Amino acid sequence: MSVSTSRESVKNTVKAAADIAQVIGEVVELKRAGNRLTGLCPFHAEKTPSFTVNSQGQFFHCFGCGEHGDVFAFVMKYHRLDFPEALTLLAQKYGIELAERQLTELEKLQLRRREALYEANEAAAIAYQQCLRHPKLGKVARTYLDQRGVPDEIAEQYRLGCAPDPEQAGWSWLSDQLLARGLSKETLIQAGLAVGKERGGHYDRFRARIMFPLADMTGRVVAFGGRILGDGKPKYLNSPESPIFEKSRLLFGLHPHREAIRRQRRALVVEGNFDLLLLAVHGINNAVAPLGTALTREHIRALRGYGDEAVLLFDADAAGLKAAMRSIPYFLAEQIEGRVALLPAGHDPDSYVRAEGPEAIAALVAAARPLAEFAFDALVRTHGLTLTGKNKIITELKELIKDSAQPDQRALMVAHFSEKLGVSPGYFQSGPLAGRHPPPVKAMDAAEGFARLPAQERHLLEFLILYPEYFAELFKAGLVDAVREPATRRLIDLMSRMDDKGARQPEQLLDHVADTDDRAYIVQVLTRGLPYEAGQEQAREMCEALVYWVRSTLHKRASAELQEEIRRAENLGDKGLLMELISRKQEMEQKKRGS
Ligand code: UTP
Ligand code: MN
Repeated sequence: MSVSTSRESVKNTVKAAADIAQVIGEVVELKRAGNRLTGLCPFHAEKTPSFTVNSQGQFFHCFGCGEHGDVFAFVMKYHRLDFPEALTLLAQKYGIELAERQLTELEKLQLRRREALYEANEAAAIAYQQCLRHPKLGKVARTYLDQRGVPDEIAEQYRLGCAPDPEQAGWSWLSDQLLARGLSKETLIQAGLAVGKERGGHYDRFRARIMFPLADMTGRVVAFGGRILGDGKPKYLNSPESPIFEKSRLLFGLHPHREAIRRQRRALVVEGNFDLLLLAVHGINNAVAPLGTALTREHIRALRGYGDEAVLLFDADAAGLKAAMRSIPYFLAEQIEGRVALLPAGHDPDSYVRAEGPEAIAALVAAARPLAEFAFDALVRTHGLTLTGKNKIITELKELIKDSAQPDQRALMVAHFSEKLGVSPGYFQSGPLAGRHPPPVKAMDAAEGFARLPAQERHLLEFLILYPEYFAELFKAGLVDAVREPATRRLIDLMSRMDDKGARQPEQLLDHVADTDDRAYIVQVLTRGLPYEAGQEQAREMCEALVYWVRSTLHKRASAELQEEIRRAENLGDKGLLMELISRKQEMEQKKRGS
């Protein structure tokens, strides 16, 4: 089956399963008027409804602004996604696998495992919530939340719970309940809810902690953050990563806050779970919190679907500042506005909103400065504007700028900073690009050459650009011999040299590419990602598919060459050679079937 027809059929399956009224109803308040549903158009400002949804025809139409289309069109326009992203979102929502081929037994097994993990996490969330309401088991946790100013409604709203003290409830309070429900011990261990003992027993991972359920974009609980009651270490214990939980992608609060973020077109990024809670207590419900890590590109990409800008609310300490600076290139790459609001020394959003109220937070947010300017001022404060100071600033900024994915954004940053420093932009071009000023390129035009590569080679390149960690494996399979096109060979050669140096971050590739077309292409791949945003598991599958492609390409080529030799031997009438060649061919076929 060709990719395009199978994609078409997936599209139709998703379209048949998706209920347009439900999808739109989640973001637009719809009222029934006769056999139509109407509401205020989300695509233009209006006070009387001219937006209609037709469930039977599965389309929407706005009589005010003329927007119309099917469920994909709505999701694309509303969440500002491209078609594959919209397809993925809807497929996930309606439980449709986006496989381009029938599932193998292994894949079915993986799918069942994932389902079991979701079930275990959901059951655990319910048990922890019940524990928090339990007169005895939840007493200490309730008192703790109360002291920190978290009322019951907020605890309910965020589904907070607690894991009981083992002195009171035993060491396998949760595990025993979940096992009794029929979940397997392996599932509990993989979900990180239980820890296996060497001799075969098990105990609960989370004990005597406030439990924060962490939801993915579709609202399913995929992990927990557990805060110790009072002092002690570690302060937070998070679930380990699992097939359903990737720490660097998840933002606490994004699911419950997505509507508010969408309405305000803005998300506030805070550091701590309690910062988020206390802001919510004071009516600020557009905050999100990464789980103790710096913002990643995936985090920012996740926000892009909901808001135009993110305001980072950080304490004035150095760690927050460094983290903010590191995220600049990601904001540029994802094209969402990043601004920074610094809290007065000694405050975090939690303490500040309690001391000064939500208006004070609103004022900070209103005065937040663009990330790039903020970074510059911070550098000037640290290094000063003496000649040595400027040199140090340039060195640090260069680090920052070389990571920005878009050439035009990079050029803007260089222009901005060189003017501020009163130096020529050339100062920012050194290192691997020493002495050269790459002419400005239009990413789209330059990348077009790559669009003409054979699909498999292009697919391979895109995969390797985005997932350099799989390079070695594909290399071993014979990658270099399998590809034909000069452009593919050139980039793969480059990657292989980088791999020798141990470079593993996608963006690092950009430091080593000199050719402007190559750069533009890589930039485009990095900014756009793959048609289907792949998690680690899918990436692994793709790697396997590509290894298979490499092997079968090499095999096909070798067997065609042999066939050609056989034909020549026949023409020459060289029986001895012919016999030898035929037996070689048979060997080859056998080896292929055997592997
Ligand atoms: P904070 O220490 O700022 O968290 O760490 P907090 O929520 O404000 O904690 P309180 O106010 O002292 O109760 C920020 C985030 O870093 C992660 C957690 O997600 C936390 O919310 N973290 C922190 C960990 O994962 N492990 C830790 O040991 C500490
Ligand atoms: Mn705190």
